[in-house]
Amino acid sequence: MRLDRFLSETTELTRSLAKKALHRGEVRVDGEVIKNPATQVGEANRVTWHDEPLALVGLRYVMLHKPAGVECTARRTLYPRAIDLIDLPKVERLQPVGRLDVDTTGLVLLTDDGQWSHRVTSPKHRCGKVYGVTLDEPLAGEALARVVEAFAEGVLLDGEESPTRPAELAMREPNVAELTLFEGKYHQVKRMFAAVGNHVVALHRESIGPLSLGDLPEGEWRELTADEIAAF
Ligand code: URA
Repeated sequence: MRLDRFLSETTELTRSLAKKALHRGEVRVDGEVIKNPATQVGEANRVTWHDEPLALVGLRYVMLHKPAGVECTARRTLYPRAIDLIDLPKVERLQPVGRLDVDTTGLVLLTDDGQWSHRVTSPKHRCGKVYGVTLDEPLAGEALARVVEAFAEGVLLDGEESPTRPAELAMREPNVAELTLFEGKYHQVKRMFAAVGNHVVALHRESIGPLSLGDLPEGEWRELTADEIAAF
């Protein structure tokens, strides 16, 4: 990799600031001051800036227990962002693997590995996402049977051309449902219940495929283990 790119990947410097730092003689490769931004460096080289060693960050995989009032977005808004809760270098490179609404709580995965993210979110891979859904209207008996069937067959949401993919619904309490989705359309859970005349009062994502929050407290995050990454 070019030295100016290496610097911009490993520090807060942009490519043009990296070139200026090189020009000022602030960067050494294997002990020698190097000024040429096109110099190729790799894992085997020891690169320092102001005598501080620099190391490339690898791909990162994180789970966050998102509280309400936090947005899964890269741009700055009125709300704190999911990435603001994560204390990692170059955190703005992490992208949520399927967003949650600002008022939804629960499991959010974030990564800078686009291929992995695609494996988790692509409906082709049938990775189930389980939501705990508190409903305005209790559901039981025949009304419940109709909704279970409608969700299993797919419902046509407002503004969509094709119905939702088959989803699994079970009731935990008269007004608390467990819904498993195998895709992720915009506001999908809320729109699905709206389509059958109900209203979602609270929504919590509990798991994505084999990953669940476990005892991770709300507002906390952790890196995934190698096994968890490989599970998708
Ligand atoms: N469906 C929704 O309606 N909202 C979410 O945050 C996630 C799924």
